[in-house]
Amino acid sequence: MDDSSLIWDDGVLVTIDQRGLPHEVRELRLGTVDAVIDAIKVLAIRGAPAIGIAGAFGVVISAAAHTVDGVVDEARVQADADRIAAARPTAVNLAWAVRRVRAKVAEGADAVLAETLAMLAEDGRVNRAAATHAADLVQRLCPDRPLRVLTHCNTGRLATSAFGTAIGALRVLSERGAIENVLVDETRPLLQGARLTAWELAEAGIPHRLTIDSAAAWAMATGQVDCVLVGADRVTVNGDVANKIGTYSLALAALHHGIPFIVVAPESTRDPNMATGRDIVVEERAAAEVTGFGGVATAPEGTQVFNPAFDVTPGELVTAVVTESGVVHRGDAGDPLPGKEIADIA
Ligand code: MRU
Repeated sequence: MDDSSLIWDDGVLVTIDQRGLPHEVRELRLGTVDAVIDAIKVLAIRGAPAIGIAGAFGVVISAAAHTVDGVVDEARVQADADRIAAARPTAVNLAWAVRRVRAKVAEGADAVLAETLAMLAEDGRVNRAAATHAADLVQRLCPDRPLRVLTHCNTGRLATSAFGTAIGALRVLSERGAIENVLVDETRPLLQGARLTAWELAEAGIPHRLTIDSAAAWAMATGQVDCVLVGADRVTVNGDVANKIGTYSLALAALHHGIPFIVVAPESTRDPNMATGRDIVVEERAAAEVTGFGGVATAPEGTQVFNPAFDVTPGELVTAVVTESGVVHRGDAGDPLPGKEIADIA
């Protein structure tokens, strides 16, 4: 497997099954629409940009399967595209990517593939650009010392196709010698932080410590965090941010402690059709993710569960949303950036 986490191999999407990490690096080969949908639903492929690109490859597979004598059956591809886009509701990248490549179906299956490969190639470039802007911003906001950064969930090459968003910013900062240590939230209940981010940071040689999610506010209170860097699944027009459950609590704690809270995402994560976060559909996942651990029950049988996969952080709590275009949103609750003018960070 090369640096890209998603590879197109002659009609088959090849990736790492993220459920097996960190212990097992298992290759997953997906050659049908149903297999792609299932991989997205069970989080074998996860992370907003990654599920978008995987979904687009699902449309490629559908277009090829429904082509007879060079003519695509558009109705059948549309039906598949709708099923793919509905596999997970919160990250806008999935619907965005499926819509983008669906628009090429009338030109034939090869055109759908070409658009998807272009999207795949763009993703790494876009992430690096967003990550570089974010790293520049962090260094302007926290100029005085090597950084102690807190991050949540997994926003690296596994969650994208390459480089990552918030983890991409950590890579850039690390290349600049600006990282002292990264505090990695384990990210209950599926442990994307412990299983995936710790694995990626170790792979990249970036010093880090794993902590339980509920230690984050205390780490801030005890002066161990200079900045919080997270990704996003959807950013609405007013700057509200859907991201992995637990992100909202981090933003509240960061504001209280005057710590910059920075969201790094591609433009494709911004939803121009959604005014505020109130309209975001937050995926709720199975009770079993909470009532057990590693196949062992940890709660009494039949316990009722609330298991939202994401939360929505109000835009005013967010110091800045940074994309490949630069700072595209700045929060205004209190003054999370004492002494900084908007012009300083835009
Ligand atoms: O449920 P997941 O693991 O797909 O959730 C992923 C996140 O919340 C990420 O932070 C987000 O998708 C950004 S990935 C660059």
